[in-house]
Amino acid sequence: MSHPAVAHTLPSYLQADRLGPWGIYLQQVDRVTPYLGRLARWVETLKRPKRALIVDVPIEMDDGSIAHFEGYRVQHNTSRGPGKGGVRFHQDVTLSEVMALSAWMSIKNAAVNVPYGGAKGGIRVDPKRLSRGELERLTRRYTSEIGIIIGPSKDIPAPDVNTDGQIMAWMMDTYSMNVGATATGVVTGKPVALGGSLGRVEATGRGVFTVGVQAAKLIGLPIEGARVAVQGFGNVGGTAGKLFAEAGAPVVAVQDHSGAICNAKGLDVPALLAHVRSSGGVHGFAGADALAPEEFWGVDCEILIPAALEGQITQHNAGRIRARLVIEGANGPTTPEADDILHDRGVLVLPDVIANAGGVTVSYFEWVQDFSSFFWSEDEINARLVRIMQEAFAGVWQVAQENQVSLRTATFIVACQRILNAREMRGLYP
Ligand SMILES: NC(=O)c1ccc[n+]([C@@H]2O[C@H](COP(=O)([O-])OP(=O)(O)OC[C@H]3O[C@@H](n4cnc5c(N)ncnc54)[C@H](O)[C@@H]3O)[C@@H](O)[C@H]2O)c1
Repeated sequence: MSHPAVAHTLPSYLQADRLGPWGIYLQQVDRVTPYLGRLARWVETLKRPKRALIVDVPIEMDDGSIAHFEGYRVQHNTSRGPGKGGVRFHQDVTLSEVMALSAWMSIKNAAVNVPYGGAKGGIRVDPKRLSRGELERLTRRYTSEIGIIIGPSKDIPAPDVNTDGQIMAWMMDTYSMNVGATATGVVTGKPVALGGSLGRVEATGRGVFTVGVQAAKLIGLPIEGARVAVQGFGNVGGTAGKLFAEAGAPVVAVQDHSGAICNAKGLDVPALLAHVRSSGGVHGFAGADALAPEEFWGVDCEILIPAALEGQITQHNAGRIRARLVIEGANGPTTPEADDILHDRGVLVLPDVIANAGGVTVSYFEWVQDFSSFFWSEDEINARLVRIMQEAFAGVWQVAQENQVSLRTATFIVACQRILNAREMRGLYP
């Protein structure tokens, strides 16, 4: 209960009937609150981002006109360390979405116990409609605008949807020029030649695979022969699909923005990855049959990996899912209603906040390597990644068993306790 002096539970810049992804996050916090014991006193901390910066990003377009784009950087919580989280370039990005994604970063970083808070950024732009020069100018101006709150010990951006190593290189250069010294540690996901880390590109998919194998063992599902369906065949879905196929789990269906395909005997994943690289999507792949997109969710499989966008598994398709295990490679792919349906049907959901934490874990390694200017081998990185993911997942599994709750609520219990413990120990300033 709020103090009567606090007249509103929602910030004035959000509308109660249009909360978007932030509304989903608030429901998740409400679900975990009964398990927080004395720390529940601090729970409002999690329901309000520490800092939300909205910036105007004006650039000169190639045709000589001036265009203005809306940009954001939200630092949800920094109790456990500097903010950390990606930057998304997408025409539909909203403040509510960036707030939710920043909050999920707080939870994720605490769940795998890397010393970061949570943050996220974005620009409302369709980058496919920009020339390379326009994209660079947009990235540089955005970085300058948010430069007042980011930095290697303040908040460290990284790639997300539609941003990549080149964009991180421009961000690092812009920030470095502004402070007058090369500051590689201001962003992660950089090219390896600029202080990036080996293994970063594959890290999220490798983490998805690692916890997937661990969970399969716990529910008695042999990986050898387990059929896998993947939505989204980009960085996360493509890598996870490749690793499952290499482990003897055939990828039988894939859906992306271009369409859906299937092959009950298993797709040739390396050939499909090459096809996606050359044509931009899975559509038209020779070694498969076309599948109507709405049929994708009902495909016969044991493991389903949503690795595209938010809000994909809903009350409308959750009842058709046949998998025993859903591994969330994407952020926020399952709505709370769908979560309940899957839980009631005995489908085990490995939630995003632990399942896709491999990316930020290797981002943490990149940041550590940048500080020491000493770089590790890919084998060392992968071994440390697997160890962190396995230990974090085992801890969450135990909490889920002890409290008889879903793995999502268990991950929130572990993470919120860590965040609020740090908050309590630090106390309120001034
Ligand atoms: N890259 C990372 O390290 C990382 C880390 C954590 C979480 N994530 C999350 O994983 C998800 C995917 O990220 P990514 O880096 O693989 O992006 P990506 O751009 O490499 O791939 C995105 C994939 O989603 C597909 N897609 C887009 N719109 C779709 C639609 N309407 N229906 C079906 N498929 C569609 C695209 O075709 C593509 O295959 C996002 O939710 C992202 O936030 C990524």
